[in-house]
Amino acid sequence: MINKKSKIFIAGHKGMVGSAILRSLKSKGYKNLYFIEKKKLDLRDQKKVFKYLKKIKPDGVIIAAATVGGINANNTFKADFIYNNLEIQNNLIHGSYLNNVKNLIFLGSSCVYPKNSKQPIKEEFLLSNYLEKTNEPYAIAKIAGIKMCSSYNYQYKLNYKCLMPCNSYGINDNYDLKTSHFLPALIKKIIEAIQDKKDYIKVWGSGKPLRELIFCEDIADACIYFLKKKTRHNLINIGTGNDKTINQYAKFIMKHLGVNLKILNEKKKLEGTYRKLLDVSLAKKYGWSYKTSLDKGIAITINDYLEKKVLTKSKNI
Ligand SMILES: NC(=O)c1ccc[n+]([C@@H]2O[C@H](COP(=O)([O-])OP(=O)(O)OC[C@H]3O[C@@H](n4cnc5c(N)ncnc54)[C@H](OP(=O)(O)O)[C@@H]3O)[C@@H](O)[C@H]2O)c1
Repeated sequence: MINKKSKIFIAGHKGMVGSAILRSLKSKGYKNLYFIEKKKLDLRDQKKVFKYLKKIKPDGVIIAAATVGGINANNTFKADFIYNNLEIQNNLIHGSYLNNVKNLIFLGSSCVYPKNSKQPIKEEFLLSNYLEKTNEPYAIAKIAGIKMCSSYNYQYKLNYKCLMPCNSYGINDNYDLKTSHFLPALIKKIIEAIQDKKDYIKVWGSGKPLRELIFCEDIADACIYFLKKKTRHNLINIGTGNDKTINQYAKFIMKHLGVNLKILNEKKKLEGTYRKLLDVSLAKKYGWSYKTSLDKGIAITINDYLEKKVLTKSKNI
């Protein structure tokens, strides 16, 4: 069983979700936390990953390391998305098994579910139809991770769980418009329009696709909750159960910032799946629900953006 003295390795501790997990573990009083920079340990390097896990012998592993990005990054760097993610998760899942790690959390995403799923999407809809083409390589890597965990649980009697969050946002998000998700892109575009005294922003696509958002601290909370919890299911959706259109999110951010800019929808740009609202009743049945309202989460995120002056930060996939 995982407790406050357990040794926990957080892979991807500098990312948006990984850094939230680290903050949350520290604030909850976990003392034996392990994390390591990518330049010291590239998680695609199997030999080095196995050696590191053998050295630290963790009781629990949380995999928040991955190649992650928005629709443009997914559609452009398809090879990186499938190769990097398969390598990282294979090394960490198999390496954990080899080192007798009983508890592991693997983070996937709502894009593992078929493009035209019935809504809200239940865990059992996995592999029931075709995926969205723009992020198919990323989704296939994540599905391989899910099947790897369930196969290892079955064969080796382990407790490896896969949490599938909806779109996330929050502290340490990526604001590089070439690779970011839609929400940080909206925040950056709106704040820059205000600074440049423009009365409009351009938004990719029709603005009509619906998206569900969860604050990254809530994903962190779910990771810690389910790392400790015995569950019969190993695939669990993590979301809020609410969604809005992309244009509605743009208006929500504008309202928060006290402006009303025109939205010019670039209809020829990619826009992905029309709707991917998660059914979160299984997580609720196990006693977990999100805590942060959109209002509060957006306020914290905008402050973080302004404080760090991340206006020019760019990210290499
Ligand atoms: N963001 C979302 O909307 C969202 C939604 C649902 C699920 N998720 C899942 O949550 C997890 C974390 O996502 P995130 O948004 O926190 O992504 P992120 O901010 O891009 O963080 C990813 C982390 O992984 C590290 N990493 C990537 N490749 C690595 C490698 N080869 N070796 C070592 N470290 C490596 C990165 O290190 P560097 O910073 O040094 O590059 C970074 O710390 C992912 O599994 C993702 O699928 C995210």
